[in-house]
Amino acid sequence: MRRISPVLQQDGVEPELIALLKTILAACREISFRVSQGELAGVLGSTLGENIQGETQKKLDVIANELLKEVILETGVVKAISSEEEDHIVAGNPQGKYLVTFDPLDGSSNTDINSLIGTIFSILPADPAKAPDDASLFLQPGTAQVAAGYVLYGPSTMLALTTGHGTRLYTLDNTYGGFLLTGDQAAIPKYTTEFALNMSNQRFWQEPMQRYVADLLLGKTGPRGKNFNMRWIAAMVGDVHRVLCRGGIFAYPRDTKDSTKPDKLRLMYEANPMSFLVEQAGGISSTGYERIMEIIPTDIHQRVAVILGSKHEVETCIGYHKA
Ligand code: AHG
Ligand code: MN
Ligand code: MN
Repeated sequence: MRRISPVLQQDGVEPELIALLKTILAACREISFRVSQGELAGVLGSTLGENIQGETQKKLDVIANELLKEVILETGVVKAISSEEEDHIVAGNPQGKYLVTFDPLDGSSNTDINSLIGTIFSILPADPAKAPDDASLFLQPGTAQVAAGYVLYGPSTMLALTTGHGTRLYTLDNTYGGFLLTGDQAAIPKYTTEFALNMSNQRFWQEPMQRYVADLLLGKTGPRGKNFNMRWIAAMVGDVHRVLCRGGIFAYPRDTKDSTKPDKLRLMYEANPMSFLVEQAGGISSTGYERIMEIIPTDIHQRVAVILGSKHEVETCIGYHKA
């Protein structure tokens, strides 16, 4: 089985970017080990703090954030980082070519139940003319990403990675200590009968999503003419991994449950990297009204509605938004 470096070299990825990716993955390997130790390492449960978004921080959110932040800034090729768990961007080397954004631990509510969690990351080019503490460095659309990926801490630790040459899946081999290529060129099936949505929010969704899901639920006797099945892991990283492996539609639509937070998922730390991975695997990713990767951000922590996965199904859902 192939290691990551030769695969990326073959794709013509710059040596500095390969080194940065390997550093991020070394931190993820460390997070994977700590996660696997669970209660034995005292990493479960919450801290007393909250992040800037008013969410209680789990101990693992903080541990993963610190590990990633430290090793990424030490590489010297990164101008600044932006994390879901940091109030502000953190400046790095003024000469650094790259910016890294990350969700250090996605699916925090799964930590204490020994269920799926992961790390999501995205790499953007850094504007040489801007200072490393200038947050506007990060206000680039998802189409500018040079790499994106996630590491899923599941029964096996897996990596999904894209540098714009398709999406590949790797598995952490603890005997060797690195990730090995176990799934070349992920291809999301165009059609699906599987959806992933937090159905408890149904009554708070906007009208097009209500209609779309109502028709899904009517199954074979409804306008869709086929029965659908539902899956919900409550960690985007787990739900998107299933979509990459066997197709499906994953959505976290806009809702009116909390007027201060109409959208749940974060553009920079979750939606953009996942959209890049999904598009590179032949799927699509949209808000229902526009392609997620074309959104020009106005704030590093901004949130967005997400509908992604199998091409035909996401297009069908987008169709309801046009009606
Ligand atoms: P995070 O743990 O980084 O805050 O993200 C959790 C997100 C996402 O991973 C998942 O799809 C969603 O929240 C789960 O939402 P529900 O609580 O509605 O299930
Ligand atoms: Mn998350
Ligand atoms: Mn998180």
